[in-house]
Amino acid sequence: MHAISNLEHLPKRDLYAALQREAAALLGGERDLIANAANFAALVWQQVPVLNWCGFYLLKPDGDLLVGPFQGKPACVRIANGRGVCGTAAVTRRTQRVQDVNDFPGHIACDAASRSEIVVPLQRGDGTLLGVWDVDSPVPARFDAEDEAGMEALCRVFMASID
Ligand code: SME
Repeated sequence: MHAISNLEHLPKRDLYAALQREAAALLGGERDLIANAANFAALVWQQVPVLNWCGFYLLKPDGDLLVGPFQGKPACVRIANGRGVCGTAAVTRRTQRVQDVNDFPGHIACDAASRSEIVVPLQRGDGTLLGVWDVDSPVPARFDAEDEAGMEALCRVFMASID
């Protein structure tokens, strides 16, 4: 069992630095995609405050995104190519940070509680796309530039563990 520490008291920058170390330790002994994706989602869910959903959407050969390991309420199973915040991150290969989901045209409301979100595209070393990492909050403007940089750094740790 992996014992997780209580990081709640840390400033955001230190929280993400500590989480990178925890993720590297948690995932480092395994290269299986589903195993590491499941533990990564559980780690973020336990350690990052004020979330109502976090998880993976994995790119399928037809261009759709299919839900992968996650934490939170049951979610939309399949997101059509280019749709929603997740599809936009996948097509543009750029992190999407949405302060208010009501202002994002085409946002897909899987959980009506979601008010802001970050979606990070997950690129393999060879440049192909594995999918996206999606983090939702019930609080508008929950995520700032530090969260964006922190989530991107965590995603690099995740990708290094499986790629
Ligand atoms: N809101 C996302 C859909 C996924 S869920 O929030 C879990 C989107 O617009 O792509």
